Amino acid sequence: MAILVTGGAGYIGSHTCIELLQKGHDIVVIDNFSNSKQEALRRVSRITGKTFPIYAVDLLQKRDIQKVFAAHPIDAVVHFAGLKAVGESALFPLRYFQNNVTGTVNLCHVMMEFNVKRLVFSSSATVYGATGQMPLREDAAVHAINPYGRTKLMIEEILADVYAANPDWSIVLLRYFNPIGAHESGEIGEDPNGVPNNLLPYMAQVAIGNRQQLSIYGGDYETKDGTGVRDYIHVVDLATGHLKALERTVHIPGVHTYNLGTGNGYSVLEMVAAFEGASGRSIPYIITNRRPGDAAVCYADPRKAKQELGWQAMRGVERMCMDTWRWQVKNPHGYERSRISAKHLSHPLSELSLQK
Ligand code: NAD
Ligand code: UFG
Repeated sequence: MAILVTGGAGYIGSHTCIELLQKGHDIVVIDNFSNSKQEALRRVSRITGKTFPIYAVDLLQKRDIQKVFAAHPIDAVVHFAGLKAVGESALFPLRYFQNNVTGTVNLCHVMMEFNVKRLVFSSSATVYGATGQMPLREDAAVHAINPYGRTKLMIEEILADVYAANPDWSIVLLRYFNPIGAHESGEIGEDPNGVPNNLLPYMAQVAIGNRQQLSIYGGDYETKDGTGVRDYIHVVDLATGHLKALERTVHIPGVHTYNLGTGNGYSVLEMVAAFEGASGRSIPYIITNRRPGDAAVCYADPRKAKQELGWQAMRGVERMCMDTWRWQVKNPHGYERSRISAKHLSHPLSELSLQK
């Protein structure tokens, strides 16, 4: 298949590009590089031995999306592009609604125009809110508790309306739990800007010595050891979930919703121990106040994806931590050496050349 990957330079997008290319799919990547580096795509090319077209396109610029569709035949779209920082979304809600919701509406308009009707969308476990019954099934009540989550929920609803009006569309909504880990090569991984918000990148930076200690947000939850419990999933397993979604479901008209998680919950303290084991480094920590908006426990019921997609997560937390650590050691400052922003590209709409 010829697949357009929006946000393909990002953390999950770059890993998925590798899996798509290795399965023999053709890909076209668009990204505005607001939260990613071209270097990630250069490395995707190096790992796979393949080149592919990349465009510095912002989904808010509909005409630019149209030009990409006009230049390439596209069978399906995997749509990762979006802003994802929960705290930032509370400070700048309009930026989030405009970028995530308007960007997706623009994309769907252009897909409609070019008769492309297969879409895989990056949703999130955050749509379940903070109070659901565990494990979370896809039919659990949804309830967003911050603007970022509301963008995901709104997009899910918009896509359901698109399908209702156009029943030949097939749309897959993948609700990710907590993606961590990195490609086994250590060449591709998560490269957060500034201070990491998420546990694993923060812990990795403490282990490598870039940060002094981890703050554990809350030690008094009603969990096995008082710290928050999450369903961590290896990013490569997540990436293969997209392949299965494309191969199995995206041909069947409808709106298909799947959890991508392992079904296992690990506490923060368990993750600290697992990371210490994988890295051989100790991770100093203090237990501080709860982070507002955090759930005590969140883990998936992943059976629907297994039954319908034939997909299940294969990699355990030890592997997730080992791969995160390998990436961190090989790239102590992320993709820094090639920091470049879209506004510095002289011809943002021309295909960016890939040098291996
Ligand atoms: P990421 O920030 O690494 O990747 C997103 C990519 O989209 C970036 O490369 C960014 O530059 C690009 N982008 C953002 N807005 C754009 C726009 N208007 N036009 C073009 N490109 C744009 O994030 P990620 O972790 O890879 O997440 C990918 C998707 O999965 C996001 O939609 C995110 O909300 C969702 N998700 C992520 C997590 C997680 O914990 N990482 C969990 C659940 C859902
Ligand atoms: N935590 C700490 N210290 C930190 C960071 C996190 O103790 O420095 C704790 C949190 O309190 C939570 C756990 O580690 O108990 C995981 O927190 P993350 O920030 O890594 O992940 P979240 O579960 O809060 O959220 C992530 C993404 C969301 C996404 C959600 C569900 O950030 O975008 O998973 O997919 F919606």
